[in-house]
Amino acid sequence: MSKAKMNAAIAALDMVEDGMVLGLGSGSTAEIFIELLGDKISQGFKVQGVPTSKATAVCAKKFKVPLLDPDKVERIHLTIDGADEVDENFQMIKGGGACLLREKIIADASEHMAVIVDNSKIVKTLGAFPLPVEVDPFAMALTAERIYTALIQSGCETASTTLRQKKVTTSKSGKKSPAGPLLTDGNNYILDCACTAIPDPQLTASLLASLPGVMEHGLFINLADTLIVGEEDMAKVMEIVRE
Ligand code: 5RP
Repeated sequence: MSKAKMNAAIAALDMVEDGMVLGLGSGSTAEIFIELLGDKISQGFKVQGVPTSKATAVCAKKFKVPLLDPDKVERIHLTIDGADEVDENFQMIKGGGACLLREKIIADASEHMAVIVDNSKIVKTLGAFPLPVEVDPFAMALTAERIYTALIQSGCETASTTLRQKKVTTSKSGKKSPAGPLLTDGNNYILDCACTAIPDPQLTASLLASLPGVMEHGLFINLADTLIVGEEDMAKVMEIVRE
């Protein structure tokens, strides 16, 4: 487990107040946070979580974090989630874990979003991490072509799209799980768009959002309110609030 991710998660725990409804992000950093939250709950602290993925729901149950049905949530005080890249304007790429659609629904509905990352995720320009775009499987090749055009129109120099595949695992008996495109929790596909650099994330986000077939894209613009950058040394962990 990365110490920097752990320290970011520890710092985020200080933001949690008794009685809060929390959006629970997805990915390894968010799962560290959920484990720590479980410890706090076992000591009498009362919070409820709204999971952003099936994997997060499993993790929350494991660490005895009470969950609310996302369909019945009226208010989310704070969401804690990880990210794949964050720039100096708190613009982010998310979706490395294929949960971007649900993560964005919960982040957007939250009163405050805190992003927890290790320092390797901080970049000057977004785009070295391939941008995940969640698409409807129907006529996916047509959607992929339009995504390519949108990325080039918004200033990306390259924009090759790759359909994300399931991880093939081997059981103890040596049987391999079936290969094929990865399906998100909402039964969509993920296109990973290698752009090298995204010079105008806001423009790219708005062009992608306008395309039928795009269920959601991994650019999170103006959603993060607090950024917690984890370091190996707890004393060097940075917490920055967006103005
Ligand atoms: C999942 C995400 C994750 O937050 C992102 O991939 C970061 O993951 P990790 O904390 O494992 O580095 O967006 O869709």
